[in-house]
Amino acid sequence: MSSDSSNEASSSSEGALPKHVAIIMDGNGRWAQQQGKLRTFGHKAGVDAVRASVRFARKKGIKALTLFAFSSENWKRPKDEVKVLMQLFNLVLSSEVKKLNKNNIRLKVIGDLSAFEQKLVDKIRKAEALTENNTSLTLNIAANYGGRWDIVNAAKQIVADVEQGLVKSEEITEESFNKYTCMSDLPTLDLLIRTGGDHRVSNFLLWQCAYAEFYFCETLWPDFDEQKFDEAISDFCQRQRRFGQTGEQVSPDNQGQG
Ligand code: IPE
Ligand code: IPE
Ligand code: MG
Repeated sequence: MSSDSSNEASSSSEGALPKHVAIIMDGNGRWAQQQGKLRTFGHKAGVDAVRASVRFARKKGIKALTLFAFSSENWKRPKDEVKVLMQLFNLVLSSEVKKLNKNNIRLKVIGDLSAFEQKLVDKIRKAEALTENNTSLTLNIAANYGGRWDIVNAAKQIVADVEQGLVKSEEITEESFNKYTCMSDLPTLDLLIRTGGDHRVSNFLLWQCAYAEFYFCETLWPDFDEQKFDEAISDFCQRQRRFGQTGEQVSPDNQGQG
């Protein structure tokens, strides 16, 4: 065995690594409040945790990392907090894209961008275009994203294609529907992590998480580091994914026996 493990983080993982991990990065506000600071201080600290998780995902060989940055419901927050979140998104786009590109990382943004200022949308599209041929990791940021929006958006596009005669309604299948949803160009979602202690999906990837493994941890997002991420991956690697079959059917000892 090679002693050069620079491309791999240490872990006790047994099964296959997840190809696609999504994270509900929750707990920034509480993290700041615990220190007697404003919630927005937590969002700023959360950016460091984003950097660490991207670095780790790349090092670990994960192919896609989808991060929930702003939900379609987060507009309901106090105006000042929403403003800081938008500013941060803008700032991070300006400061990180070059580095992402240098590290061969492809950046994508999913969500209803029509609600954002045109300048921000242009910046996002430019960053996506710059990094589109990068192959080490796809960093997929969900901004003004809602799982229900994603499904309705897909349905609208299918209706438009049916109306134009490009698709017949009787030909629509789960597989063809999937092509209209966000992330259909990425590996299937394997693992969904939520930090911050709550056990809910908060309208994240409703269609895509049909057979994802869920991992919940108490850690507040700014404290989620390489080690915590690795714990989640190790946990995933020890699970048996059955996809409706029996444990015996999917057991490695039974490969090829149907
Ligand atoms: C997640 O942290 C970040 C966003 C939703 C943008 P929160 O801001 O929800 O933090 P808590 O859950 O209130 O602690
Ligand atoms: C989910 O967290 C959204 C993001 C992490 C961006 P929330 O903090 O908004 O979720 P709820 O409101 O607790 O369900
Ligand atoms: Mg929260």
